[in-house]
Amino acid sequence: MIATTDALRTAGPLPFTPEVAAATADIWSKVERVLPRDEWQQHAPYIERINRLKKSRNAVILAHNYQAPEIFHGVADIVGDSLALAKKAAETEADVIVMAGVHFMAETAKLLNPGKIVLMPDMAAGCSLAESIRPEDIRLLRETYPDAPVVTYVNTSAAVKAESDICCTSGNAVEVVESLGAERVLCLPDEYLAKWVATQTKVKILSWAGHCEVHERFTPDEIRRFRRAYDNLIVIAHPECPPEVIAVADFAGSTAKMIDYVRNEKPARVLMITECSMSDNIAAASPATEIVRPCIMCPHMKKITLPKILTALETLEPRVEVDPAIADRARLAVERMIAVGRRK
Ligand code: 13P
Ligand code: SF4
Repeated sequence: MIATTDALRTAGPLPFTPEVAAATADIWSKVERVLPRDEWQQHAPYIERINRLKKSRNAVILAHNYQAPEIFHGVADIVGDSLALAKKAAETEADVIVMAGVHFMAETAKLLNPGKIVLMPDMAAGCSLAESIRPEDIRLLRETYPDAPVVTYVNTSAAVKAESDICCTSGNAVEVVESLGAERVLCLPDEYLAKWVATQTKVKILSWAGHCEVHERFTPDEIRRFRRAYDNLIVIAHPECPPEVIAVADFAGSTAKMIDYVRNEKPARVLMITECSMSDNIAAASPATEIVRPCIMCPHMKKITLPKILTALETLEPRVEVDPAIADRARLAVERMIAVGRRK
């Protein structure tokens, strides 16, 4: 919340008028359990203005599950995990795509829908996994393991995707690996996701030492402490967590699968081992479940704020472009991933 409030202050708050209150009343009813009223009154004028402007721009706002509730519930047209956002970006007929996520997600959207204007409200919203591997690393790995196809996580640059055979997300990594019919596969760059995939398949998985700076910080001791403090606690973890954390969780899955778990199983009390805005978003949507929060925010996701989304829509900048020299090969890797889901 701090980053959002700071950004609002810098831009100068817009007034919370009775007209704004009326236009945003239904959104307030969704977020009032997770946002204090005074904070809401700062967000609402931006929400009202963004929702008006996006219609006149024929724009669609895609928001990752880690976006703050005022973005996720307030202005997003499509929300989801990395896989859902990639698929929806490919399908949209809007002229403008605003990515309320991180840079690799916007790049993936541009790859899949190159004719559209793709706006990234803050170009500095990166990802520690995308930073952990370069195209030359992949070329070297191919020389060392010539028989192993290269599966790269979508959390990578387009240049890295271009060196890959196929992409995956945490929502389809096992399926993608098994679709290749290979004895061993390079699963890059997230070491912990690769190790989790290895527990779900007979294919031999080779990994790289990239980590998510949010998920690598959770520890099994912390989970045990929560279990001692709260009775009947169901622990669900993202596969970017270290294996010893996943080992003490009740369920592991992508952000969408974590949300589905809460929606379908309706646990009375749950601990979400992932970025903490997702807990806020689920708490807003699933009032029957008590969400216990260990809070670690992704500093990259939190660079996206309502004032920056508004500025992007007003100026139609900054735009994400992909170097044509790599775009076709990178697109192929992402499209192959989406085709795996279709074959099912
Ligand atoms: P998913 O939404 O694909 O589970 O990814 C998590 C993540 O860290 C995205 O940045
Ligand atoms: Fe990257 Fe981790 Fe942030 Fe996701 S949560 S964008 S993997 S640093």
